[in-house]
Amino acid sequence: MTSTIQEPKSNTLLETEKVYRKLQINYTRCKQQDHTQLLDEAAASFRYEDCQDEYWNPEEFSLLYGTPLWEQSSASQRIILNQLYWVAYYSQIISAEIATIYFNQTSAAGLYAQEDFRLVCDILDLESGQERAHINAFKTISTQVEAALFGKRVFSYPMRGPFTETMIFADTNALKAWWKKLQLQCFGLLSAGNTFLACQYFTVRGVRTLNGKLVQHKLSNYYQKHPNQEKAPIPAKISYYHFMDESFHFNSSTILSHDVINCLKSPTAFESFVANLGIRGCQKDHYHFSAAINGIFWYDPALYPAIYEVMRSRVFGMSDREAKEMIQKCFTQESEGLNRSYETHKEAIESYKIYLEKINYTWKTNKEMSIMSANSIPKYLATQKKAIGNW
Ligand SMILES: [Fe+2]
Ligand SMILES: [Fe+2]
Repeated sequence: MTSTIQEPKSNTLLETEKVYRKLQINYTRCKQQDHTQLLDEAAASFRYEDCQDEYWNPEEFSLLYGTPLWEQSSASQRIILNQLYWVAYYSQIISAEIATIYFNQTSAAGLYAQEDFRLVCDILDLESGQERAHINAFKTISTQVEAALFGKRVFSYPMRGPFTETMIFADTNALKAWWKKLQLQCFGLLSAGNTFLACQYFTVRGVRTLNGKLVQHKLSNYYQKHPNQEKAPIPAKISYYHFMDESFHFNSSTILSHDVINCLKSPTAFESFVANLGIRGCQKDHYHFSAAINGIFWYDPALYPAIYEVMRSRVFGMSDREAKEMIQKCFTQESEGLNRSYETHKEAIESYKIYLEKINYTWKTNKEMSIMSANSIPKYLATQKKAIGNW
């Protein structure tokens, strides 16, 4: 005789077979094509001397590309700027992925409270493990390069926790950083105990990953199109392997925030308020664009000291005055580099809008990305001119 337990009806994931299948397929493929081992091997065999004389990214993905500095740089300086783009870019990704690991875990706690959510949590566990391999690879390369070029850290930083400002060059101060930390801690606690908020974290993660995808797709192409992949520089290989893993992460964000969310009860007013705050926070984080680095939404005045270090280093060998004049030229005038970064910013806005189209609890200002869209080249230049004056 078989007996069953009669319980009040609750949402279960298995009821929505189509969604469950989608998750399962994504999980199986992500496991099969896991790049952890390849990334670990690549990082372990990296020696800067082996690839210090070549590009690691397509040329337009170079630090300060299309600015006055780029125009006057020699071929060998341009190679360094190309490599420094890699270092700076992935130093930012490390910070984002440290936060991702933490929120994957708190969200898994919130989601595991539902029937049949084991699969979702297993996916998140796999992804967190992959992020640790990504971070290790980025960190190994960045540290080695900066040690060789500068003898100190410029864009990279020692290991840190998930509650620091995610943008490593942000428009911040001690008070803002404290407030941000408090918000992140609150969201962690809330999402661990609330399935809707846990699930909606993936809306924010999806939007952030979209930003990454825009650029990382192009970075990964460098390896894919390389005439001799065996001999391709290891950092280019890492860009490609990372992009492969991330495409699965993006899929899981999409399934969770577009499909799984519909298997849950509709949000309360408080839940949709917190969810919208999260998306608004993302808009605020992505408000700026940078003339120095296309595709990362850094606040350039916070970046001047790092760029100053680069110019004073033996790579450019500038005097204090030359370095400051160059910073003024690069950041306070319109340039091809600035225009390209602005184009990527606009492209990001459009892709975020499409991503949020299907989500019905979002505020109009989030659906239309009105905070991010308010930035412009004249505003950028006005901000820089003011900041340079106080620098
Ligand atoms: Fe990653
Ligand atoms: Fe990821």
